[in-house]
Amino acid sequence: MLVSGIELFQAAKKGGYAVGAFNLNNMEILQAIIEAAEEENSPVFIQASQGGIKYAGIEYIAGMARVAAETAKVPIALNLDHGTSFTQVVQCVRHGFSNVMIDGSKHAFEENIALTQKVVEVAHPNNVGVEAELGKIGGVEDDIVVDAADASFTDPKEAAEFVERTGVDALAIAIGTAHGVYKGEPKLDFKRLEEIAAATDVPLVLHGASGIGDEQIRKAVPFGITKINIDTDLRVAFSQAIKDVLAKNPGEIDPRKILGPARDAMKEVARKKMRLFGSAGRA
Ligand code: G3H
Ligand code: ZN
Repeated sequence: MLVSGIELFQAAKKGGYAVGAFNLNNMEILQAIIEAAEEENSPVFIQASQGGIKYAGIEYIAGMARVAAETAKVPIALNLDHGTSFTQVVQCVRHGFSNVMIDGSKHAFEENIALTQKVVEVAHPNNVGVEAELGKIGGVEDDIVVDAADASFTDPKEAAEFVERTGVDALAIAIGTAHGVYKGEPKLDFKRLEEIAAATDVPLVLHGASGIGDEQIRKAVPFGITKINIDTDLRVAFSQAIKDVLAKNPGEIDPRKILGPARDAMKEVARKKMRLFGSAGRA
């Protein structure tokens, strides 16, 4: 069933676990995520970035998500991932998204607040949850590119003021993660995380979580991390499975025999994450 992101954030915060948020760009990825959630009896965020929406078309993303939500027995929230424009947010709300992320992190503090306030004003009357970002997460997420030099960590005091003034349902924080494939394993800034958690009660979101070791994830969740974003780990599983099929059988031309194993591989990754994040069994 489709539920508001607000519901998932609040249940996770209360239950002391995090819900996985997985990016989808096509049917196989969506099915992998939904099957994983059903097999683990886990709530889940399915999300499309602006790049994903451009690729598949918003009607397809919304239509596939509606079918998935109608047939699945677990709670599902459909999120816009890293939305940067107010118009895009409105379009997603009109297409039945139940959560939106407004990423105003490239703007100065006051402009980020003003943009986020506008989004909350249009989202909340529709029971759509709002996630915002404060600090700048590095790396590449589709068409959003943040150089390491431009990345900046979230300031705990600013986080408290930002949440207070915007009324957001969740806050994405920068504490050392980055989007894309890591060269070495990053070290999360747990001191900062602790300070942010002490400064505000808002559910926190960890982006760039692919490639972060299990120990660091386990340690981070109790600080109020309620949503953990995974895109790259699914991409890696998807492309590796396809390479394996074609290496074994270079003459294979049936898309189902190429994409089917990729779907299975992504499902296994998603299931493991749901167990790691503590959302398994919480549907
Ligand atoms: O918004 C999406 C996620 O933050 C993706 O992070 O590249 O580590 O999978 P990732
Ligand atoms: Zn992200």
